[in-house]
Formats: sequence, structure tokens, C-alpha cells
Amino acid sequence: MNKSLISICLIISLMLVAGNAFAKQKTPEEALLLLGKSIYNDQNLSVGFNQSCKSCHNNKSGFADQANTKNPSKNVVSIGSDGISTGNLNAPTAAYAYDSPAMYYDGLFIGGLFWNGRATGHKPFNVGCQVSGYDVDPLFSSLAEQAQGPFTNPAEMALPDSTEVVARVAAADYAYLFNLAFSPVDFTNVPRTFDQIAIAIAYYEESSIMNQFSSAYDTVPSTLTPDQLDGLTLFLGAAQCALCHVTDGGPGAAVFTDFSYDNLGIPINPIIADKGVDPGLGGFIEQVLTAPSGVYPLSLVTVIGDGVLAGDDAAANNGKHKVSTLRNIAITTPYGHNGFFPNLTSIVQFYNTRDPLACSANPTFIPVTPALLDAGMIPGYNGVTGYCWPAPEVETTVNHAELGNLGLSPAQVDSIVAFLEALTDQ
Ligand code: HEC
Ligand code: HEC
Repeated sequence: MNKSLISICLIISLMLVAGNAFAKQKTPEEALLLLGKSIYNDQNLSVGFNQSCKSCHNNKSGFADQANTKNPSKNVVSIGSDGISTGNLNAPTAAYAYDSPAMYYDGLFIGGLFWNGRATGHKPFNVGCQVSGYDVDPLFSSLAEQAQGPFTNPAEMALPDSTEVVARVAAADYAYLFNLAFSPVDFTNVPRTFDQIAIAIAYYEESSIMNQFSSAYDTVPSTLTPDQLDGLTLFLGAAQCALCHVTDGGPGAAVFTDFSYDNLGIPINPIIADKGVDPGLGGFIEQVLTAPSGVYPLSLVTVIGDGVLAGDDAAANNGKHKVSTLRNIAITTPYGHNGFFPNLTSIVQFYNTRDPLACSANPTFIPVTPALLDAGMIPGYNGVTGYCWPAPEVETTVNHAELGNLGLSPAQVDSIVAFLEALTDQ
């Protein structure tokens, strides 16, 4: 090798060494965020290598299921990785869910995730996370607990067990990120790695990527149109929406849910009637009460016990579902836990006229279906007559005190819809 070649080699190796030394090492926060995002988007974590969290919670549709938003009066539930299985519940947005506290009882059951609250946030996570505050913080554990469900749910990603989830994650090209975010890391420890996976997903779901607060409602100074402002006034006042879809914190902070549960009296959705009615929170309470001891954390059993002692037992919560966030609501059709409503006008008009235009009170009227609502046959709206709202899925616990007969005009319904449309992130 001649002299000049040696010096060139020397210079190149020096540059490589220097380059490595200066290559920016990811902070634990950056590593955890990237890990969570990578897992969230990884289709290899499903039985058919064809489905990730993103498949049913896509940013293009407000982190709900894009397939449903495209045809909201026909596709009301998501299809699993196997291409045929479905559940009986409409996929909610996975954004703005991070704020839901671990379930507690305070005269009402509050907190948890899923329509029935079964990701309660009472499962302890202690995973050696290098991001401070992320190890055992109960605020985040509902999200992490939720994130462990879909991988092995037969109607979703349908993997056989958590061992298989961990094996596939350990073999992924992003697996090196574990060492930057967690300590210790040991992929042969399946329970702890499965918990670390969940914590990483929760961290991503809690990030500003999924919670942008960038809608017209959040803009300062306000860019709401006069019509949207009228809608906001009704939302806070005459229509009483903010009783449950609370606006605490206002622009930039409000998530439009008080994390409680209620029964709006939504009718059976004929499209998925064969799947049966979901009992909501009442069903979950029943499960906790009848489970052998040790199945659920003691802290949760205590919370459920407190409610039951106060008369809030399984029967009192039958048919109650989690109060939804309304952020990005205009792009997450259909609406309601069973997807009965294909558009915003129909669900707002349902709040407005459920009781006076109930089929039970108008036996000669035609009961509406999602297809009829999609075609504009919305009872009492803009001159539509002769159509009525079918009976609720669960009659006994329907909320008649706060909704069902609001006395709003069609123009007022339109203003509320206009306001809801102002909650879409830009
Ligand atoms: C096949 C479609 C599908 C896939 C895949 C899927 N989800 Fe879901 N997701 C749903 C449905 C349906 C629900 C409602 C189920 C229920 O409440 O019982 C839901 C509920 C949720 C919720 C609760 C939101 C709330 O406000 O209660 C979150 C968060 C969520 N999913 C995140 C995820 C994550 C993270 C993954 C990946 C690990 C994932 N989902 C995979 C369909 C899906
Ligand atoms: C008493 C509490 C309460 C009040 C008052 C209330 N809501 Fe709701 N809202 C809920 C609950 C609970 C759900 C989920 C119910 C379900 O699907 O079973 C919900 C769901 C919704 C949804 C569908 C969300 C989705 O992602 O599917 C919209 C839209 C909505 N509400 C708008 C409104 C508007 C507009 C008002 C005022 C006219 C209002 N709500 C008043 C409790 C309430």
C-alpha cells in the first residue's frame, strides 16, 4: 500500500470513528416514542401479518377505523386479521384516551378504557422504564392495560398468546430500541417484555402525535364561525351536552368526556343484531363480582364493591357505555357503541327527539335503520315525518333526565353539528 493510500485509509477510519462518536444517541424518551410507534404500526404482530393497531385506529380517520368511516351505514364494526371475524362494538378513536384515570367510584364509576371500562388501570406495571414517571404511574396504566388486549383478541390481531407477541417483537428491526428505553431487558422474560410493549404503545398514544389539540376550537384567537359559536353556546347550555362531554381546560386541553358511563337508549343495530347486545359497564361489573378471587386486582375489586354497596350494581349499569371524547368526531363515523348512527346529524337529532319520536309513542311510524338515517330519513329533522326511533337495546337504565327531549329546532341541531365539525385536528 503506498503512503497516500495509507493516509486516505487513515482519514476515512478516523471519520468513521468520529461519526459514530457524534451520532446522536437517542434519549430514553425518543427511543420509547419510536418503539411505541413502531409496534403500533407493525402488521407482523397479527396472525395474518396484515393488521396492526393502525389498521383500526388510523390517523386519517381520527385514529378510528378507516374502513368504517368510508361506509358508515354498512361497515359498523372492524374486521379482524383473519379477514372474517368481527365483534359487536364500533372501534372508538385511540386518540385523546390517555387522560382517562384508573377506575374509581365517586357516586358514579369513573375512568378505565374500552366501551365497558374493562381496561381499568388497576393492573400494576413495573417494567424498569428509563423514562421518568412512566414506570408505575397509574394515570397511564389504563392505556397500557388496554394495549395488551388486541394482540390476542380472536376478532382482532388473533395471535395465540403473549409469548408469540413477544417473539415477533423481539425479532423486529426496532427491537434494539428496548435497550435504550428499558432496563433490564430480557426477551425470555415474556410477562415483563409484554408489559414493556404495552408501556411503549401507551407512551406513543399519549404523545402529541396522537393528541394534537390543533382544531379550530383550539385556535387562539378563535376561528369558529358564527354558526359554530352558536353550536358551542347550545352545547354548553340548552342542549346540556357538556354535562358529560365536559370542556374542562377549554381550548388546548378539553377532551370532552368526564370518563363516566351512561345509557343513551341507542337502538339495536340491525346490521349486527346477530352479535347480541353488549351489556357495557354492567356486564363488566358482573364479571368482576363473579370471578374467583385473585383474577382481578384487589384495588379494583374494592372499587367495584364500593359502587355495589351504594346501589350501583351490575343491573344498575346494564347498557351503560363510556362517555366518548368528541375530538375528531366528524371524521370517525359511525357513532355510538354499536355504530347505529351513520352521521352527526342523526345522533344529535336522536338526543333531541328520542322520546317524543320513539316508536313506542308513534306505533304507525316507520322505525329507522342506519341505511334510512344515511338516506336522510332522520325523525323530525327538516320536515321528515312518519319515521321513529326504535326501542333501546337496554330499556331499564336509559337516561331520561338529561337527554332525549331537548326541544331544539333543526337549525339548532345544525349549529351543534357545525360546532362538532370544528373539533377536527388540522
Ligand atoms: C380489528 C380492529 C382493531 C385492532 C387491530 C385494534 N383495535 Fe383498538 N379497538 C377496536 C375496537 C372494536 C375497540 C372497542 C372494543 C371494546 O370497547 O370492547 C377498540 C378500543 C380501543 C381503545 C379504547 C378507546 C377508549 O376510549 O376506550 C384503544 C385505546 C385502542 N383500541 C387501541 C388499540 C391498540 C393500541 C391496538 C394495537 C395493539 C388496537 N387498538 C388494535 C378495534 C381494534
Ligand atoms: C348524560 C351524559 C351525556 C350527555 C348529556 C350527552 N352525551 Fe354524548 N355520549 C354520552 C355517552 C355515554 C356516549 C356513548 C354512548 C354509547 O355509544 O352507548 C356518547 C356518545 C356521543 C357521540 C358519539 C361518539 C362516538 O364516537 O361514537 C356523540 C357525537 C355525542 N355523544 C354528542 C353529544 C352531543 C352533541 C350532546 C348534546 C346534545 C351529548 N352528546 C350529550 C353521554 C352523554
